[in-house]
Amino acid sequence: MRAEERETILNNGARCLLRSPRPEDGEAVLRHLRRVAGESPYTAFLPEEVSRTLREEQTFLKRQLASRDRLMLACLVEDRLVGLGGLGPAAAGRKCCHRAELGLSVRRRWWGQGLGRTLVEELCRQAGRMGYARMELTVMEDNARAVALYERCGFVRCGLLPDAYRTATGSQAAIWMSKAL
Ligand SMILES: CC(C)(COP(=O)(O)OP(=O)(O)OC[C@H]1O[C@@H](n2cnc3c(N)ncnc32)[C@H](O)[C@@H]1OP(=O)(O)O)[C@@H](O)C(=O)NCCC(=O)NCCS
Repeated sequence: MRAEERETILNNGARCLLRSPRPEDGEAVLRHLRRVAGESPYTAFLPEEVSRTLREEQTFLKRQLASRDRLMLACLVEDRLVGLGGLGPAAAGRKCCHRAELGLSVRRRWWGQGLGRTLVEELCRQAGRMGYARMELTVMEDNARAVALYERCGFVRCGLLPDAYRTATGSQAAIWMSKAL
């Protein structure tokens, strides 16, 4: 699905455009994913695991735009991609199609500017319009910044999945969070 474009003003006064990434943004999206995975230990993937080719990424972005149950949002400051979020079905099948799952990442230099909150709020709003009834996510237990953000946006903790991630610093549980839309 394609999101309506909108502008938001960040905490530092910068103007940020929110819009769905297009196939021509493929290179910027791949670079963003590799960089955030290198800047933060809390992504679910490593930089070298961002392995789609440019053509594959462009096809992926085209499919996201055409899809009725998926949506991506890019945050652009002066045409530079600084944040990325997305939503899609949390599980397959009609019994679960009321549940969406959310993911997001912001470049470290832009943390604390309100982009995380803007992305979460906008993705929840869009998910409601798309017919979803709940938004879910999993987050590494030690990711205090993200957990605090999600709780402030109305998510509640539903449980812990032990040993969900094995990182350079050891094993981490995943906190499962959910919010009624
Ligand atoms: C998590 C992430 C998306 C947050 O993005 P952000 O743009 O910095 O978020 P915001 O600026 O909207 O808000 C961050 C909030 O956390 C607060 N915060 C910062 N550090 C914190 C900490 N250690 N503990 C608790 N809260 C913290 C800030 O004060 C701010 O609160 P506010 O909304 O009341 O001002 C970003 O840090 C990120 O991309 N991290 C790497 C990838 C990642 O972890 N993704 C989520 C995977 S589930």
